[in-house]
Amino acid sequence: MRLRRAEGRGAGGEAELLALPYLTAGPLAGQWAIRARTFDAFVRRVVAPLAEERGRELAVLDLGAGNGWLSARLARLGHRSVALDLRVDDADGLAAGALFRRHLPRMFGRVSSSFDALPFGDARFDLVVFDASLHLAEDLPKVLAEAARATARGGLVAILDSPFYARSRSGEAMSEEKRRDTARTFEGLAEDLLALSPIEYLTRESLAAAAAPAGLWFERSRVLYPLAYETRGLKARLLGRRPPSRFDLWSARRS
Ligand SMILES: C[S@@+](CC[C@H](N)C(=O)[O-])C[C@H]1O[C@@H](n2cnc3c(N)ncnc32)[C@H](O)[C@@H]1O
Repeated sequence: MRLRRAEGRGAGGEAELLALPYLTAGPLAGQWAIRARTFDAFVRRVVAPLAEERGRELAVLDLGAGNGWLSARLARLGHRSVALDLRVDDADGLAAGALFRRHLPRMFGRVSSSFDALPFGDARFDLVVFDASLHLAEDLPKVLAEAARATARGGLVAILDSPFYARSRSGEAMSEEKRRDTARTFEGLAEDLLALSPIEYLTRESLAAAAAPAGLWFERSRVLYPLAYETRGLKARLLGRRPPSRFDLWSARRS
């Protein structure tokens, strides 16, 4: 939580929370400009068509939900959502989401749990979504198996805002850089932070290998991001740096 606060998260209070993901000011505005594009694509290409197919509001499970802003957005669109996270703090954990109650016609559910052992029966949700959270999984096949189990037939599992690399070599280099930065920047916290072993990144191949046993076949839907993001690959090539990741929108149907 100290790390999250140090990054400036949750610092903008209620106004910031209600604006997410359309944050236009503050230190994290640049990051959110990218994430807002993924979210818009998600609503347009995943949520709306699935609701149309089902002919009703969707039951959504938001995994690694943080403060639950995505669940709040979906609640505003008339869907029923459950936000699940390990963290219950009020910086940007589940407790921070309590503020949404006053602004929503129907509050979303909040459940404190790990996404590698979901406290729900089988096939309870039309849509299971990981927004900026799947790369924090430690056991990817297990987490995806749980997501698949919780998804009803014909429903979807979606991945937003997790870094995908074309080659695992680039992802490994990023992980290594990140570990070095963490050790340097968060001296007092580094031991705790480095004790966790999240996968940190995905590739098309690593996702396919982990998802296949769960019967999930993910497809990428490319998102058009702001120009600076879209030209990062070219810039890296020109400067001889490692290729960057991309987020995009990935989804798989539960058969
Ligand atoms: C980068 S934050 C993203 C939060 C939110 N989805 C968003 O879009 O802002 C990642 C979240 O995943 C959660 N998380 C990490 N590992 C988890 C696990 N095993 N089970 C549940 N949540 C987890 C973290 O606590 C954190 O809140």
